[in-house]
Amino acid sequence: MAKIAQKCPDIPVTVVDVNPARIEAWQSEDLPVYEPGLLEVVKEARDRNLFFSTDVHGAIREADILFISVNTPTKTVGVGAGSAADLQYVEKCAREIAKVADSDKIIVEKSTVPVRTAESIRRILDGYGVKWKYQVLSNPEFLAEGTAMEDLEDPDRVLIGGEETGEGRAAVEALAGVYANWVPRERILTTNLWSSELSKLTANAFLAQRISSINAISALCEATGADIDQVAKSIGLDARIGPKFLRASVGFGGSCFQKDILNLVYLCEYFGLPDVARYWRGVVEMNDYQKNRYSRRIVDTLFNTVAGKRIAVLGFAFKKDTNDTRESAAIYVCRDLLIEGAELAIFDPKVEAEQIYRDLGREPGDAQIRIEPDPESAATGAHALALLTEWDAFRSDQLDYRRLHAVMEKPAFLFDGRNLLDLAEIRRIGFEAHGIGKP
Ligand code: UGA
Repeated sequence: MAKIAQKCPDIPVTVVDVNPARIEAWQSEDLPVYEPGLLEVVKEARDRNLFFSTDVHGAIREADILFISVNTPTKTVGVGAGSAADLQYVEKCAREIAKVADSDKIIVEKSTVPVRTAESIRRILDGYGVKWKYQVLSNPEFLAEGTAMEDLEDPDRVLIGGEETGEGRAAVEALAGVYANWVPRERILTTNLWSSELSKLTANAFLAQRISSINAISALCEATGADIDQVAKSIGLDARIGPKFLRASVGFGGSCFQKDILNLVYLCEYFGLPDVARYWRGVVEMNDYQKNRYSRRIVDTLFNTVAGKRIAVLGFAFKKDTNDTRESAAIYVCRDLLIEGAELAIFDPKVEAEQIYRDLGREPGDAQIRIEPDPESAATGAHALALLTEWDAFRSDQLDYRRLHAVMEKPAFLFDGRNLLDLAEIRRIGFEAHGIGKP
């Protein structure tokens, strides 16, 4: 919304939320999410044509286009628990709109939703017998965290799905007109509603599948002495495969990949396609395997026990340039190590201490967890260094691994879960160093 406001100064954009603290944060210098370049864009448009408010009803009445941009987490209880999307917030929005609006609206699903959610929104509105006209559009978001502002500035495509009727097409055109202020027309794709919803889930499933595929091969590399980076480079040069998203890692995290694949799995099961469901579930299972394999390797290497040993954890966010920890591989690795009795010394440049305790299901002050202010204090007295997020600050030209080695217990082990470091160089320093898929 900040990007739309920046690029379309004539369009007033109002972001509403029921949470006053959150709205207040959006009006401050300290935004609720860390995203490079976001504050600048917000500041450019804020109070010009970008507004933040808790007046949900007022905003619904005034707007011509309403974006539903709420959370759609995986259900934890009830039917479809563990795979289906929890659509209660989308549904609440639809009901709120139905109750409050009194003029024609275009309603846009921005949240990632399972196929045919637009239909549910429509049924809710019809159930309330609304007198005004509306169109429901699907406009999934393809930005990735950490690079959100670049992705929005120059998207590969903008996807808009709508009803294939005259009014549906007019609504699609209206929204396309907003993006056309800065996105070339040929990159604005229009489809029917279901194609648009399904494309979003499929895009994420394909991206995650690449990571699970390369991670599967990383295990074979470790067993055989092949080097995963060399394999990735060799296959990536095939134009049909392409070089991106082939970085072997401790496993993908984030709020999207696992959730969206599980959604796809649920849909396939629901529509009586168990073989298709099993195929995609494999991508998530491979990811679980990889996270588990990494923590097991730490334990094995540290002479089969980490009980009472201090392990320095560098990075807790699910990727660099974000303070988001949802589904971060670090959470799973840390939990495994805590169960084994390790003492963790955790440093992340952007994640708050309270968030780390919450994610690990522990109280602040827990005897097994220390949150450290920098890598060196984390490394002090540690037996091993586990690198879990690819922050630039952890690159060997930015961080002095010699100093870290000096303050650690010996032998000092390093587990590069992101293949960020030149392991030959790290070994020269004196570490016993292990990467993912490295001989
Ligand atoms: C992902 C998609 O990339 C976006 O296109 C999509 O819009 C978004 O989900 C969404 O559905 O909202 P995001 O989860 O923010 O974006 O971040 P990614 O860059 O895709 O990274 C996801 C995870 O995969 C991270 O943990 C990352 O470290 C890992 N990854 C990525 C690898 O392990 N290897 C790679 O080669 C690439």
